[in-house]
Amino acid sequence: MSDRHYAELAEKLARTGDLSDGEFLEVIECRDPEFSELLAEKAREVREKYYGKDVYLRGLIEYSNICRNNCRYCGIRRGNKNVERYRLTKEQIIECGDTGYELGFRTIVLQGGEDPFFTTERMAEIITELKERHRDCAVTLSIGELEKDDYRRLFDAGADRFLLRHETADKEHYSLLHPEEMSFDHRMNCLKTLKEIGYQVGAGMMIGSPYQKPEHLLKDLRFLQSFKPEMVGIGPFIPHHDTEFADREAGSVALTLRLLSVIRLILPDVLLPATTALGTLDPKGREKGLLAGANVIMPNLSPTNVRGKYLLYDNKICTGEEAAECIRCMERRVESVGYKVATVRGDHVSKRKE
Ligand code: SAM
Ligand code: FES
Repeated sequence: MSDRHYAELAEKLARTGDLSDGEFLEVIECRDPEFSELLAEKAREVREKYYGKDVYLRGLIEYSNICRNNCRYCGIRRGNKNVERYRLTKEQIIECGDTGYELGFRTIVLQGGEDPFFTTERMAEIITELKERHRDCAVTLSIGELEKDDYRRLFDAGADRFLLRHETADKEHYSLLHPEEMSFDHRMNCLKTLKEIGYQVGAGMMIGSPYQKPEHLLKDLRFLQSFKPEMVGIGPFIPHHDTEFADREAGSVALTLRLLSVIRLILPDVLLPATTALGTLDPKGREKGLLAGANVIMPNLSPTNVRGKYLLYDNKICTGEEAAECIRCMERRVESVGYKVATVRGDHVSKRKE
């Protein structure tokens, strides 16, 4: 394919936020690094228009690795008997939040397996306390599938955002990644409900997950275009040795970076993290993610003694450092690519409260 053709595709995507199915498939399938750089340049222009040079940090508290689900790709799935399970107490979670606040985080993300101990009431209490202690902080939840009343109760308690990756927009592919008791329709309904309630919502998918075809990624892009989430989390699939996908290949860093640029161009003001999975496969993965159009980084705030137990995939990075070291390391990384960490809530432009 000619350079001119690539330049035209990149220009059309940047100008219209859209391509035909065939053109999107070309973008997904082409392996030319120069085309990636062309898309990344356009993506940076767009991210700078909405967010300048700012990078938002989210302090991630992995509060429990106990999960009732059995997602086939996930290291902490219920069926993995080799995991040393833990759950943080409310006091520990609040303490992590306090530490995060002192370090400059203005968004706390509570992420965990679907642990039945954390009932909606318990979660609501934690959210209320976090928000009372740190009034200028946002709380993001990444706690899986619940019913509408529960999502509403947690929103009323003060939760601002919710991350729930759709994982794949293809129903059949979904059924290959999840056990029979998990439902594609339920997950998609959860996303709709979260949006109706008023959360800033994050969808997303793994890149290179088992059985994934370019057509599935095309469907993912079409879904993102129509659902218009405020946040999109994408990262490469990475095998975990205690899952049935242990011998699968990891997803491609290059394709993840290219899709970060594409997502920035189809959803110009989206909050887009450069994920830990990207940093796990490539030591400069998160920096490259920022240069491809990402504008969010999510350093770990969990106590060091539990970090090594929240292993969704093998070789996960940042499992040793204290929170203070993590934030300094992130600041250095962000500055190394010409951006700067902003000590603000970092809401989606359509829901700015600061
Ligand atoms: N339980 C919550 C949920 O289901 O949304 C939050 C935790 S879940 C572990 C967070 C995300 O980790 C999933 O949405 C999935 O995309 C990602 N993940 C799980 N296993 C992974 C793997 N082996 N490689 C890369 N990402 C993985
Ligand atoms: Fe529940 Fe992965 S299976 S967090």
